[in-house]
Amino acid sequence: MNAALSAVDPVAQAQVTLVKHPLLQHKLSLMRDARTGVKEFRELAGEVSLLLAYEAMRDLETDLVGFDTPIEHGEFPMLSGKKLALVAILRAGLVMTEAVVDLVPAAKVGHIGLYRDPQTLKPVAYYAKLPQDIAGRRVFLTDPMLATGGSAVAAIQTLKDAGAQSIKLMCILVVPEGVAAVHAAHPDVDIIAAAIDKGLNDHGYIVPGLGDAGDRIYGTK
Ligand code: PRP
Ligand code: URA
Repeated sequence: MNAALSAVDPVAQAQVTLVKHPLLQHKLSLMRDARTGVKEFRELAGEVSLLLAYEAMRDLETDLVGFDTPIEHGEFPMLSGKKLALVAILRAGLVMTEAVVDLVPAAKVGHIGLYRDPQTLKPVAYYAKLPQDIAGRRVFLTDPMLATGGSAVAAIQTLKDAGAQSIKLMCILVVPEGVAAVHAAHPDVDIIAAAIDKGLNDHGYIVPGLGDAGDRIYGTK
């Protein structure tokens, strides 16, 4: 497969898809570069998210719909099946949903507020607002960084508690620890990412990574 590399986790049978497209990989490398400033980083995060969404939404259903082009009548594919929901893990996931909603403007958007306690690295929940009909929607959960996996595991549980049944996790960077944590807790959730990095440093940051995604998107450090 050229565009993406799929691997089935032998334990969980869940899917991790790494999108290897050169455009995406180039933009990811620019994001990793410590010299990249806030404005460019935020733009790149949006562009990378669009390219991830292209792969994450590859299996959306379509039906043939009949109508006239200016030249002749025909039947053409249009999206069908379950409606979509984009859910951001705040803060950093917001830049991803804001980019992707332009691609799927009929999607509803939800927000889950979590931050990682710097000492314990455990997620602390502070907000959740989800579409009321989330149970009937295909959910694309966004967070650029899957590190220990604590935040994603908690966010997926929040979605499931609200009734969500079909969830994909879109990340920019993941590490094996985070993937294992998500698959152990939620083996039904597939992950789409731009790259799988080496692991975590003593502060729980992804190595080589791109630093603190929220701080780089919003210029808070
Ligand atoms: C970052 C990132 C993830 C989380 C990943 O958020 O956006 O949500 O850390 O780490 P984990 O996999 O170990 O849970 P952060 O806690 O820095 O919050 P912020 O986006 O509000 O800055
Ligand atoms: N959260 C981030 O923003 N970056 C990391 O490397 C790990 C967690």
